Amino acid sequence: MALKRIGVLTGGGDAPGLNPAIRAVVWKAAELGIEVTGIYDGWKGLLDGYCDETWPLDVELVRYWDLDGGTRLGSSRTNPFNHKKDGEKFDASDQVIANLKKLGIDALVPIGGEDTLGVAAKLFAKGVQVVGIPKTIDKDLGGTDYTLGFDTSMRTCADIIERSRTPAGSHHWVQVVEVMGRHAGHLALWSGLAGGAFITLIPEAPFNLERVVQLLDERLSRGKRDRRFPRYAVVVISEGALPEGGQEVNVEQQVDAFGHARLGGIGAWLADQIRARTSWDSRAVALGHPQRGGVPSPIDRIMGHLFGTAAVEACVQGAWGKMISARGIAPACTIGLQPLEEATKGLNLVDVARHYNLERYQVSRHVLG
Ligand code: F6P
Repeated sequence: MALKRIGVLTGGGDAPGLNPAIRAVVWKAAELGIEVTGIYDGWKGLLDGYCDETWPLDVELVRYWDLDGGTRLGSSRTNPFNHKKDGEKFDASDQVIANLKKLGIDALVPIGGEDTLGVAAKLFAKGVQVVGIPKTIDKDLGGTDYTLGFDTSMRTCADIIERSRTPAGSHHWVQVVEVMGRHAGHLALWSGLAGGAFITLIPEAPFNLERVVQLLDERLSRGKRDRRFPRYAVVVISEGALPEGGQEVNVEQQVDAFGHARLGGIGAWLADQIRARTSWDSRAVALGHPQRGGVPSPIDRIMGHLFGTAAVEACVQGAWGKMISARGIAPACTIGLQPLEEATKGLNLVDVARHYNLERYQVSRHVLG
């Protein structure tokens, strides 16, 4: 049966690239005579009491959305399979299914990360016609080389890392920059390289604090003895990085509806350790949510266009239960389909053996095979 209406929603942390993807869904659907309904605030928008308000999207309305960061549809970390209302937790997935029917939505395109697409996979198992689009600045989803938001966020992080070098150089201190990424170090590692970090600490490789301090002390001491050399350093630390034998640092103990704690604070801890263990001053900055902000980079606009367009094509083909995936990054990429479970089966982490130097705590200088 021909599709009449596609629903689109964005879930989890926002990311630059979401609006270009929504726009592409709307444009491709319009070409095929399919209506698109925007659902507000992720899975929350399909629960009773929320789904009464939706947004009919058309080509003219979304014309300039490719230029916007964040998500115009809003987002949430609501998990309909573990919904909390009036102090009680319950499975509200049947509400979602009933409300999709009520809204006349015969295909759903959720755009999100591990959690949002995990819900999509479970709904597919319950008969919902769904095609997912991968998004997260963490780039930690399986089954795809690209997730929307990574490129823009990496640029933002690299920019601040680079800017950290001049104050640190002028004042001769160690600047610690904490970046997001949850349990994956992609964002830290590559923005660290691009921004000129001396050390980058990632969750995939617990670090030896003594060795980190030794590397820093050697570098700054040489700079003090001989002014031709740098008497500062920038250390990038991923929020999920941890010292050997240590534990992740969380902002709070509570976990969200998907069981995730909010990471944060390891950078400030490291700066304290550097001050306590060396004669060097150290400052810490956590980049926080602004690293998810700003207008999408050209790569995120292009990938949003490709992912959104492919999602509608997949709906037309009836490729339910799939996620749009990329091999390579635009413009030299191939767009394909992967089962939704691939995205959520296991995290895509930094290949330490290939990309990381465990002696110097930075990107490997061994590139060819
Ligand atoms: O998954 C994206 C992300 O930005 C992670 O890098 C970070 O750990 C988390 O979301 C922060 O969550 P919140 O936006 O709920 O504070």
